[in-house]
Amino acid sequence: MAFGKVGVVGLGTMGAGIAEVLARGGIDTVGIEVNEAALERGRTTVENSTARAVTRGRLTEEAREQILGRLTFSTDFTDLGDRDLVIEAVPELIDLKAKVFAQLDKVCRPDAVLATNTSSLSVTEIAGATTRPESLVGVHFFNPAVVMKLVEIIYSERSRPEHVEAVTSFVRDLGKVPVTIGDRAGFVANRLLFGLLGPAAQLAETGVAKEDIDASLKELGLPMGPLTLMDLIGLDTCLEVLESIHADSGSPRHEPAGLLRKLVSEGSLGRKSGGGFYTYDRAGSGTVVAPVEGTASAEVAEQLYGPYLQDAAEMVKSGYCTADDADAAMTLGCGFPVGPIAALRERGTWQD
Ligand SMILES: NC(=O)c1ccc[n+]([C@@H]2O[C@H](COP(=O)([O-])OP(=O)(O)OC[C@H]3O[C@@H](n4cnc5c(N)ncnc54)[C@H](O)[C@@H]3O)[C@@H](O)[C@H]2O)c1
Repeated sequence: MAFGKVGVVGLGTMGAGIAEVLARGGIDTVGIEVNEAALERGRTTVENSTARAVTRGRLTEEAREQILGRLTFSTDFTDLGDRDLVIEAVPELIDLKAKVFAQLDKVCRPDAVLATNTSSLSVTEIAGATTRPESLVGVHFFNPAVVMKLVEIIYSERSRPEHVEAVTSFVRDLGKVPVTIGDRAGFVANRLLFGLLGPAAQLAETGVAKEDIDASLKELGLPMGPLTLMDLIGLDTCLEVLESIHADSGSPRHEPAGLLRKLVSEGSLGRKSGGGFYTYDRAGSGTVVAPVEGTASAEVAEQLYGPYLQDAAEMVKSGYCTADDADAAMTLGCGFPVGPIAALRERGTWQD
């Protein structure tokens, strides 16, 4: 492995999962948090996750001990001084990320590779916040990091190609499927996914029943309907991602629906707040109060799925990613049963 010693900054939802992936892959890993309480939460997340894996028979107790033995937890950034690679996974705020990278500039080795797990900020802009922009690469894991196979590797105009290659093969050695692409809002997976989710919210705003929209897309084999998925992701996060993609694409399909803005401004953020498009029995629960069976409509499905397939076709034709990348992004990153290019092939409307 090119990176034997790795650091992770921020051990929340993503960072704790990434630290576990690294330790499972045999990597000496240091996890950094902002204070002792957050550090303890991060440690507990990894301990509980690996304990569940033992209970389910997916990991032996001995293997779990080895994984935990590869992890060190600290609130001191200077503990990152010997790391080959440091992955930042703090909240999606450019000022906070800039502050973290300024700290990393001070403590990391000059030859260390720096990475960000951002999902919607510009990797190029984050690189601008370091004194070594050529060392920065985007490494976008999906949630939950231990389970999801896709990792988008994003290079900025200033990233050194050898760093990008080294991170790509490192991620592959960890058992993940890397898709390496340039810096563009939403990268591959979110760009395509939100081209489906955004219009689903717009359609709900026009009065089409949310249950019918969800039922229509589930009929295509999607793991859940788009509005249920937005509630799961968090409507505030969905709004941020759509705004960033819309600023880049200018497409009316990426324009956040007024209904989405209204829900967010009311504090209806989805499952985590107990209500979003649907009402849940309590905050954090996935149980819908008074669920209504939706009616699937092929017309509604095509209205949303057809343009999504066209987005993927255009993305591949523009040279941004390969057909295999687009399919990997949607199957391995978003859990779709079939990738968009494979779907176009099935329809007989794709020329390789
Ligand atoms: N949640 C997702 O589904 C998801 C998926 C892919 C990528 N991402 C991206 O991953 C990043 C992290 O998201 P998350 O959902 O894990 O956030 P989170 O809020 O769950 O975790 C962030 C962690 O960073 C810590 N932190 C804050 N300031 C810090 C500092 N100065 N130094 C060290 N630690 C600090 C916090 O204490 C917290 O534990 C974001 O850029 C997000 O866009 C999130």
